[in-house]
Amino acid sequence: MTRPIPTLTDLGDVRGKRVLVRTDFNVPMENGAITDDFRIRAALPTINWLTERGATVVTASHLGRPKGAPTPKYSMDAVRVRLAELAPGVELLENLRFDPGEEANDAAFVERLVQGIDMYVDDAFGACHRAHASIVGPPRTLPSAMGLLLQKEVEVLLGLRNNPKRPFVAILGGSKISDKLGVVEALLAVVDSLVVGGAMCFTFLAAQGYPVGDSLWEPDQVDTCKRLLAESAANGKTIHLPEDLVGVDATGRFATFGVRLPEGAKGFDIGPGTAAAFSDVIMEARTVFWNGPMGMFEDPRFEAGTRTVAQAMADTSAFTVVGGGDSAAALAQFGFADDVDHVSTGGGAALELLELGDLPGLEALRGAPNA
Ligand code: 3PG
Repeated sequence: MTRPIPTLTDLGDVRGKRVLVRTDFNVPMENGAITDDFRIRAALPTINWLTERGATVVTASHLGRPKGAPTPKYSMDAVRVRLAELAPGVELLENLRFDPGEEANDAAFVERLVQGIDMYVDDAFGACHRAHASIVGPPRTLPSAMGLLLQKEVEVLLGLRNNPKRPFVAILGGSKISDKLGVVEALLAVVDSLVVGGAMCFTFLAAQGYPVGDSLWEPDQVDTCKRLLAESAANGKTIHLPEDLVGVDATGRFATFGVRLPEGAKGFDIGPGTAAAFSDVIMEARTVFWNGPMGMFEDPRFEAGTRTVAQAMADTSAFTVVGGGDSAAALAQFGFADDVDHVSTGGGAALELLELGDLPGLEALRGAPNA
């Protein structure tokens, strides 16, 4: 039997203890300012749980990909200011990835990190798929636990994987099927139907023999898409693909198309008929997982498909879960962030947990001395 993952109460008395909390404060920034503090606010329940019980909390996170060297652009200064507003008196270390030891999972770096620390809490769900020093190192020696945010993410996402209310529908978008192949295969094993939008739909449409014009697609994944379509049909599962598209014609003018794109045309969003059909599938489901926008929603000409899906996610009575990253940003942009059951703080981590059912960060916590 797998060992359970220790939770905060398994730490025992935290009064007077210095607790290192690994958070995922990898927040979106523009010109040095935080554009969305969702990940900082999401860590507050754990921070407050510990401070209310008399612990001294030291938080630590990565920000961006500075490649092992101090880089002013990726300093934690702006995050530290916001954290001080939300949780006064809580310490935040400098960007963990300023040291090459973090990504290399270097033992000496772990030793420095845990110096003077009594306990470790992992609340960095978004980084739990990385076997980095601050994620897998401290639980080797310190009493450890998952924080409240990590606990909720694991419960919700493993719940989808192991025991979803049916019909269970997954909606996937984004540009590349190759990036999400593992999760597509894993999802096809548990969902009743899969809805595909975003540029990845063009590779599926090409696999069905439709011309895709100059749209983004992956010729080397056509055979894979053919196999997925054939296998899901044989297993009684439906893969819903667009029946109309929106984009630009060969002259660069906005245009609406059927499922065949003329030469030189580019598709940038699902069409209105498709958006309505996808919306119906969401309304009839009892569980919905959504990851990846339906089109280039940053451009108002191509936001309608993603907006319609976001609206349906808000309106359906199904249990709704949104994977982090672009789909969470789209949901927030359209004002529906509070209308779904769970918005994950992890993009890659959410997909990897759905695909594999476990993450290096969870495995490390199971091996902690107090587990
Ligand atoms: C994320 O934003 O998905 C996490 O913080 C992980 O960041 P990374 O992909 O740079 O490891």
